[in-house]
Amino acid sequence: MITMSSMRSHKLILFFAISCLLLHEKCTDASVCKESERKALLEFKHSLQAMDSSGNNALPSWNSEDYCFWFGVYCNSLGYVEMLDFRFRPFVVAGTISPSLLKLHHLTSLNFSSNDFNGSLIPEFFGSLKNLIILDLSNANFRGPIPSLLGNLSMLETLRLGGNGRVFNVGKLEWLSHLSRLKEVDLSFTNLSNANDWSQIINHLPLLQKLNLRDCDLPSISSSSVSLTNSSTSLNTLDLSHNNLPSSAIYPWLFNVSSNLESLDLSNNQLKGPIPDAFGNMMAIKELYLSDNLLILDENQVRGDSVLNEIGKLPDLRALDLGNNLLNGSISKSLGQLSNLKVLRLAGNSFDGDVISEDHFSNFTYLQKLDLSYTSLTLKFTSGWIPPFQPSQLLLCSCKLGPRFPNWIQTHVLNPDVDISSIGYLDISASGISDSLPYWFWDKFQGLSYINMSFNQISGTFPNKSIHIIHLDLSSNNLSGALPRFSLDYFMDMGTINLSKNKFTGSVSPICNITGDGFLALFDLSNNLFSGVVPDCFGSFPFLTALNLGDNSFSGSLPSSLGSLISLEMLSLRGNKFSGELPSSLQNCAKLKFLDLSDNELSGEIPMWIGQKLSSLVFLSLQGNQFRGRLPHQLCGLKYLQILDLSVNKISGTIPPCLNNFTSMAKKESLDRRIEHNILDTGPRFLSLEGVYGEPIWIIQVRYVDEALLTWKGTKQSYPQLGLLLAIDLSCNKLTGEIPEEISSLQELVVLNLSRNLFDGKILQKIGHIRQLEVLDLSRNKFSGNIPTSLSELTFLSNLNLSYNELSGKIPTSTQLQSFDPSSFSHNRGLCGPPISPNCSMVELPPGKPAVGSEEDSDEFMKWFYTGMGLGFAVGLWGFCSVVFFKRSWRHSYYRYMDNAKDWVYVTFVLLKARVVRRIKALSTR
Ligand SMILES: *[C@@H]1O[C@H](CO)[C@@H](O)[C@H](O)[C@H]1NC(C)=O
Ligand SMILES: *[C@@H]1O[C@H](CO)[C@@H](O)[C@H](O)[C@H]1NC(C)=O
Ligand SMILES: *[C@@H]1O[C@H](CO)[C@@H](O)[C@H](O)[C@H]1NC(C)=O
Ligand SMILES: *[C@@H]1O[C@H](CO)[C@@H](O)[C@H](O)[C@H]1NC(C)=O
Ligand SMILES: *[C@@H]1O[C@H](CO)[C@@H](O)[C@H](O)[C@H]1NC(C)=O
Ligand SMILES: *[C@@H]1O[C@H](CO)[C@@H](O)[C@H](O)[C@H]1NC(C)=O
Ligand SMILES: *[C@@H]1O[C@H](CO)[C@@H](O)[C@H](O)[C@H]1NC(C)=O
Repeated sequence: MITMSSMRSHKLILFFAISCLLLHEKCTDASVCKESERKALLEFKHSLQAMDSSGNNALPSWNSEDYCFWFGVYCNSLGYVEMLDFRFRPFVVAGTISPSLLKLHHLTSLNFSSNDFNGSLIPEFFGSLKNLIILDLSNANFRGPIPSLLGNLSMLETLRLGGNGRVFNVGKLEWLSHLSRLKEVDLSFTNLSNANDWSQIINHLPLLQKLNLRDCDLPSISSSSVSLTNSSTSLNTLDLSHNNLPSSAIYPWLFNVSSNLESLDLSNNQLKGPIPDAFGNMMAIKELYLSDNLLILDENQVRGDSVLNEIGKLPDLRALDLGNNLLNGSISKSLGQLSNLKVLRLAGNSFDGDVISEDHFSNFTYLQKLDLSYTSLTLKFTSGWIPPFQPSQLLLCSCKLGPRFPNWIQTHVLNPDVDISSIGYLDISASGISDSLPYWFWDKFQGLSYINMSFNQISGTFPNKSIHIIHLDLSSNNLSGALPRFSLDYFMDMGTINLSKNKFTGSVSPICNITGDGFLALFDLSNNLFSGVVPDCFGSFPFLTALNLGDNSFSGSLPSSLGSLISLEMLSLRGNKFSGELPSSLQNCAKLKFLDLSDNELSGEIPMWIGQKLSSLVFLSLQGNQFRGRLPHQLCGLKYLQILDLSVNKISGTIPPCLNNFTSMAKKESLDRRIEHNILDTGPRFLSLEGVYGEPIWIIQVRYVDEALLTWKGTKQSYPQLGLLLAIDLSCNKLTGEIPEEISSLQELVVLNLSRNLFDGKILQKIGHIRQLEVLDLSRNKFSGNIPTSLSELTFLSNLNLSYNELSGKIPTSTQLQSFDPSSFSHNRGLCGPPISPNCSMVELPPGKPAVGSEEDSDEFMKWFYTGMGLGFAVGLWGFCSVVFFKRSWRHSYYRYMDNAKDWVYVTFVLLKARVVRRIKALSTR
């Protein structure tokens, strides 16, 4: 593109001469023409005001004499501007695009892709850049509508407008039909909901080879509009994914244009029913993506003598994705005939109990990526089997591989040079392995980009040497021994290490010796047997987002270098023996959302700076320590707080009335459903003198959902869904005075526990205003007077304890209050009426009920909790089978990418909801 053949140059000379004569009378010789081009470029630069990421002029080279050497400007052999292309150093635009571009008469290629035009409209004058062959405005933050004048660009062969987001409404596509030379069209991630002519228009583009309409809100093709003649048969790459298209809308048109298709993506639509035989006629097909639909195998298919057979005969198939459909029964052995297959994904279908044996895989010589996650498949190979393929990505989460460690994975290759996007990835989590880690494991697999073996019963220790890793999840196993020295190998990588729920012992001082060029982003050592003092060496983790050292046996004071963790969003040190005061350096961790220091031996006063400096806190628990003194009123500055647990301390004084500043508890809008950390590791990128540029080669996303503990009737229960449980627990302290009236404005509060304090006075009259209250425990205080009648307005109240106070009078009548157990009211001065006595003339105290934290209670908790959870639950939970994303195409903008990432997770989790619920129940009742 930068240099052209001489034939073409001749044509251009001619063309140039004519256009100079006709359009610019003044431009009679080359130097004048070139001066005009130079001026046009400078005008363009000035109106554009392009800035780099630091706000500096993004086109500093644009002042030297010869514009052919300016960044982004490419000239033809005669020295006229032929192409503008600013890849490699994207900029942000503050101004407009100047029509001076019209003076560049030799411009054939305009590529603004990946720059940021700040939501500006596509200029109408683009329709007059008549010589354009390539127009690429993808991923450039443009806004629609598309000027239909683009239909005048009759030379255009490549048109990319994709990745500009839904604000880019394309409207009707009539104008496109004039561009009969088009070979490639990309309108992905735009809004085509009004383009009900799209299939007809496409049929009129005889040379079209590539069409990308991913995620465009495409309207269904009405069957009458399907013209079965004149169809474009040159199509070889078609992406209609993420459009919610039903089968009836797409099949008739598709099978008419599919004869030369090499790549077809129909994932994330509404394709329903059996997979049509017609897929088996796409003899040229190499990549077939049908994931995330409602496809089934019909009876014949289940018997294995139909369609998967047809697909099994496609000779050139390299990639087959049938993930997340409704396929069940058994996997047809005919798939094994696909001897060219490199990528096979069947994840998220329920081949319940089906067994995969080496027979299925015997012809898969080239297989690189195998994803059978969440299929309930059993992989049963004879011992000593060596697969004929060398996979670089094995995703077998929740398949049955155990109980012996699957030695066959040894053929896994780390860094295949065949395909750089094939990062090394191994996920054998939750796969029923109950064995010791083989001796070869770390020799073979260190350096792998991602290893997830969580939720098995793998035993063994780390070798006594430095372990090179990027992402490692070994949580919930039986591993033991000492923490190794880790090395984070890749330059600028965000590493994650999760060793929680194992039996590791000894000191954690090796964390001071983490080496390598990467940065640690997540570090979870919780629920192990680590002990000793935590070393004061956190200064070298500027990107650490989550640090969990909870439930170990650490002692000593909190290291003050914790204050260097300026990116920290989650810190849990709960369940240790830490003592002393909170280091004041902790106030530097201003991004903290989740702080759990419960069940330690910390002491001193609750510092004022918690409320002033840690103002992003959503969860704060200091439960079960030795904190004393008064509650600082600065605590009210925590306006995002959803859970405040200060129970079981020695806090005295009164509750500060400013509690109504906890806006999250007062208004529904701003709730964090869960505190979740997405560590996005964008992998290596190209490096040049101008800096890091280009698209990341791959992306791994590690999700980490904070899990909070709350005491429920004496037992600690864990729950991952904040936002459903807004709670204040100040029980077991020495607090005095009345409940401040302001608390009644916390309308979203679900749990209020003030029991076991020295509160007195009357119960707040307006308590009924806390409309969402489900749990109210005021027991063991000195409350007196009547029970306020507004209490009977709390329709969600399911747990009430007013026992051991000095209350008197009649219990207000409502079906609600009368349905509680009499023990809720026991041991008061003189309460009467149902449920404790038939009427107020015969007052009698029923005996108290001692049960605390029984099995029954926790069952009740789970029931209550899951009922309340509803849909929210389905999204993002637990770390096992963490999510990884592989780049297939990066033609869409980053924010869309994130949206899709969420969809992906959502789908996965909806499918697995039942299973996960069972697992959580099993775990939480352990
Ligand atoms: C335009 O530039 C982007 C990089 O910014 C590149 O990926 C794309 O292929 C280019 N478009 C064309 C049509 O060459
Ligand atoms: C982008 O546009 C918005 C208004 O649409 C404006 O406020 C903002 O300053 C613009 N950004 C730049 C860098 O020009
Ligand atoms: C664009 O094409 C339309 C017809 O489609 C024509 O009327 C108009 O003059 C053309 N505009 C330019 C600037 O060439
Ligand atoms: C797409 O545009 C239509 C109107 O043309 C609008 O109703 C619809 O909400 C838009 N879709 C999205 C996702 O913004
Ligand atoms: C493997 O290929 C051979 C030869 O093409 C064929 O006979 C055999 O059935 C294939 N195996 C499977 C499992 O499909
Ligand atoms: C670990 O780090 C400490 C201090 O940073 C250093 O004194 C010690 O030698 C290191 N140990 C190893 C094995 O590198
Ligand atoms: C409570 O909120 C108000 C208004 O947002 C603010 O002026 C006040 O300082 C806050 N009080 C405390 C103690 O943070």
